[in-house]
Amino acid sequence: MTDLIEIKGVTHAYKTPNGPLPVLDNLTLSVPEGEFAAVVGPSGCGKSTLTRLVAGLMKPDTGEVWLHGERVKSPRKTVGMAFQNPVMLEWRTILQNVILPLEIVAPSMSQPDRKARAMELLQLVGLDGFQDKRPSELSGGMRQRASLCRAIVHKPDVLIMDEPFGALDAFTREDLWQTMHALRAKEPFTAVLITHDLRESVYLGDQVIVLSGRPATTQFVLDVDYPGGAGLRQLEGLYTPECAAMLATLREQIQIAQGRQPGPAVH
Ligand SMILES: Nc1ncnc2c1ncn2[C@@H]1O[C@H](COP(=O)(O)OP(=O)(O)OP(=O)(O)O)[C@@H](O)[C@H]1O
Ligand SMILES: [Mg+2]
Repeated sequence: MTDLIEIKGVTHAYKTPNGPLPVLDNLTLSVPEGEFAAVVGPSGCGKSTLTRLVAGLMKPDTGEVWLHGERVKSPRKTVGMAFQNPVMLEWRTILQNVILPLEIVAPSMSQPDRKARAMELLQLVGLDGFQDKRPSELSGGMRQRASLCRAIVHKPDVLIMDEPFGALDAFTREDLWQTMHALRAKEPFTAVLITHDLRESVYLGDQVIVLSGRPATTQFVLDVDYPGGAGLRQLEGLYTPECAAMLATLREQIQIAQGRQPGPAVH
């Protein structure tokens, strides 16, 4: 399998009034095509910075970012993005919001085709019937579902998500995790998910990358062997000894990243 995302020895510092703030330090990681990489790390270590580099919104001081064998030097159309607080245009309906990326990257696509493509995704995430509502008429979970549709409507090579489920309650979040698997089963994409939730990282990730404290480097990579084998992952798998062991490993790694000694688990 080829690596779709390759980050090679990336080092970056922000210029601040108090001098340079080193954020990424010789960071290297790769995500094979079709894989889902979850990235966890201490708050403020540089995770969002990493997403901006992959999307081409920023250039690193040194090192290289490659997507699909091409060096990233400017913003990429082939990247879809979703954030914690989905930014939706209130003067557009949900359908019109989801169609927006197609208007930008596929101007020659006919309006009926755009609508059909958006409706296909809205149906998949359980939002058919809501396409004519305004964003403010939807719940937070529904808005995030629509935002995921918008992020993949133009079939990007890579979906980058920065804590997309962080603002949702626990049950809605679990629903969205399942939606995520359903979307991937329908149209496989390569994904990078930034999260603070270790269970989320294990349930969704094929690999979980633990970043060190700032300046961040790749501290640890866990290959997820989710109980139940191939096929759609079941939430119940999270309560198995195999998952408990993976979560304990990750928790220990986060504590190391935070510069603390690992201690007994608190549930
Ligand atoms: N544009 C900027 N200019 C200067 N400093 C910045 C800029 N953006 C981020 N920083 C600083 O860089 C560090 C890393 O920021 P970043 O947002 O990448 O962290 P993060 O891991 O996403 O944090 P969180 O977990 O809180 O979302 C932080 O200390 C932040 O204050
Ligand atoms: Mg962040």
